[in-house]
Amino acid sequence: MTAPTLARPVVTRPVATHPAPALPSLTAAQTPRLSRRALLHEHRATLAAPRRRYGPVARLLFGTMDLIYGRRGSLEKFLVLEVVARIPYQIWENAAYRALHRRHRDSGLAHRITERIVENREQQDNEQWHLLILSELVGDRVSRFWYGFVPWLMALGYYHVSWLLFVLAPRVSYRLNADFEDHAEHTYAEFVAEHPELERVPHRSSFARQYGAFETVADLLRQIGHDERMHKQESERYLDAGPLR
Ligand SMILES: [Fe+2]
Ligand SMILES: [Fe+2]
Repeated sequence: MTAPTLARPVVTRPVATHPAPALPSLTAAQTPRLSRRALLHEHRATLAAPRRRYGPVARLLFGTMDLIYGRRGSLEKFLVLEVVARIPYQIWENAAYRALHRRHRDSGLAHRITERIVENREQQDNEQWHLLILSELVGDRVSRFWYGFVPWLMALGYYHVSWLLFVLAPRVSYRLNADFEDHAEHTYAEFVAEHPELERVPHRSSFARQYGAFETVADLLRQIGHDERMHKQESERYLDAGPLR
């Protein structure tokens, strides 16, 4: 028995194609894992660079963290920093999906929005690895209240502030994140410079396959600091380009 044939030939119409713009070759979270020599070079560059002029919301956040966890850097304090770090990317990604829903007929804009979704997801993942690796380093020696509940409360507050800023003034939200990432980059770099003993502490991680392997804790923190610089530069690019709506 032969298969039935279609009564009419299938006519394929040429489909209008809009060549997708090339994805950026390097998004923030795709920061390459640097060699030891490159890490040392970039570490010196961060230490020599001035900090951004932080806005009032960023200063309030950093001041609150200093008040609770002390002014000096520590692995425990970095853990708190990384709990909060992912939030703006989560808000931007959700907003980008909503924009895509409204503007999907404009293919040019839709491609650019899609690029941002990819970047925001990668940045979230990158921050997630930072959190997991630091959590692994700190272990369970910390208070659940100060390093579990309080950071959760801070993250909740930061989520609502970031969301409101993004709705009312997206550029202010990008600037706040650039300030946050700049602060993180410098804080990691200063901590490594102040703790030369970390050059002799070997680093082993169960997340090395996903994030990368580093011989020492000093190099691991240099790499994380470099990631933060990439995040900052991406927020600064968003600041120049503006929101996609
Ligand atoms: Fe981070
Ligand atoms: Fe970051």
